[in-house]
Amino acid sequence: MAETTMKAIQYLAYGGGPPALNHVEISIPTPTKHEVLLKLEAASINPVDWKMQKGELRPFLPFHFPNIPLTDVAGEVVETGAGVKNFKAGDKVVAMLSIFGRGGGLAEYAVANKNLTVFRPPEVSAAEGAGLPIAGLTAHQALTYSAGIKLDASGPLANILITAASGGVGLYALQLAKLGNTHVTATCGARNMDLVKTLGADEVLDYKTADGAALKSPSGLKYDVVIHCAAGIPWSTFEPQLSSKGKVIDVTPGPATMWRFFRGKITFSRKQIVPLLLIPKGKNLAYLVKLVKEGKLKTVVDSRHPLNKAEDAWAKSIDGHATGKIIVEP
Ligand SMILES: NC(=O)c1ccc[n+]([C@@H]2O[C@H](COP(=O)([O-])OP(=O)(O)OC[C@H]3O[C@@H](n4cnc5c(N)ncnc54)[C@H](OP(=O)(O)O)[C@@H]3O)[C@@H](O)[C@H]2O)c1
Repeated sequence: MAETTMKAIQYLAYGGGPPALNHVEISIPTPTKHEVLLKLEAASINPVDWKMQKGELRPFLPFHFPNIPLTDVAGEVVETGAGVKNFKAGDKVVAMLSIFGRGGGLAEYAVANKNLTVFRPPEVSAAEGAGLPIAGLTAHQALTYSAGIKLDASGPLANILITAASGGVGLYALQLAKLGNTHVTATCGARNMDLVKTLGADEVLDYKTADGAALKSPSGLKYDVVIHCAAGIPWSTFEPQLSSKGKVIDVTPGPATMWRFFRGKITFSRKQIVPLLLIPKGKNLAYLVKLVKEGKLKTVVDSRHPLNKAEDAWAKSIDGHATGKIIVEP
């Protein structure tokens, strides 16, 4: 490879928001034994990226400064480590970069561990692939591992509520849920109700109305499972809307969720709230890519931004009103 340096964007300390993103020219990383070097074609932002900059995950993350943010990428393999046998230069892939790694997706190149790198067929664009890792895997884990929904529709009928169904996680959760034997109620803002219906929701609630804020199903159904992708909704709002063994999977668990979770365990409560922490797996990422290829799962792209204007993408994600995924392209 002739090039030795690349454009990248990094921050040097906690705080500062979009203006603290510095444009730099630095050395292209070299893959270690089990890594591939990718020439990036697209990356997507997740709220965890700017929450790390804000210091919400300190003292553990970011692992070091300066930090090049973003974990979710799609690109082309240009070099492989000695221990990588299943990829070669020229392969198109989707990858989730290590949050503890040497560089993230706001760059022209990045190294990815082979275990969280999967092939991307020509039917799946770089932007569609880059949207998948954190948001898609979180939706998949919440529905399958946490809620026990079978995505081949072989399970019993489940009534599901998805909050913030218009967001990155919510839109994947909605579409994956509809692969199962489910009735899905979704909450979103008025402007996204048609989109959410088109992508499969059986009932949609505008979260800014009284019934929406109360999470009341228009048809009076109680929920067996809630995939909770919004924030700030107390247990007292969920509890009356749950079926007798209803379970809330909270993808942004704070102290109140943790307290309620442990309390529920001690008291053998039938209704539960369960915290979710993503444990990413390559086989699940490959499954999501396959669903996109087959037209069974869509990445809704909120907006696309060039790398040299990544601050705009960063600000848009912090604003909290994206519909689907915010994409950055080198
Ligand atoms: N535990 C984990 O491992 C894990 C993994 C992934 C994500 N997360 C967390 O999950 C959360 C969701 O992530 P995301 O990527 O989906 O966020 P996102 O894409 O930024 O979500 C934005 C969307 O949420 C909607 N929204 C906001 N508040 C709402 C409410 N009260 N009711 C209904 N809709 C609402 C907004 O609609 P409007 O524009 O109409 O307001 C917007 O469309 C974040 O807090 C993230 O940090 C956790």
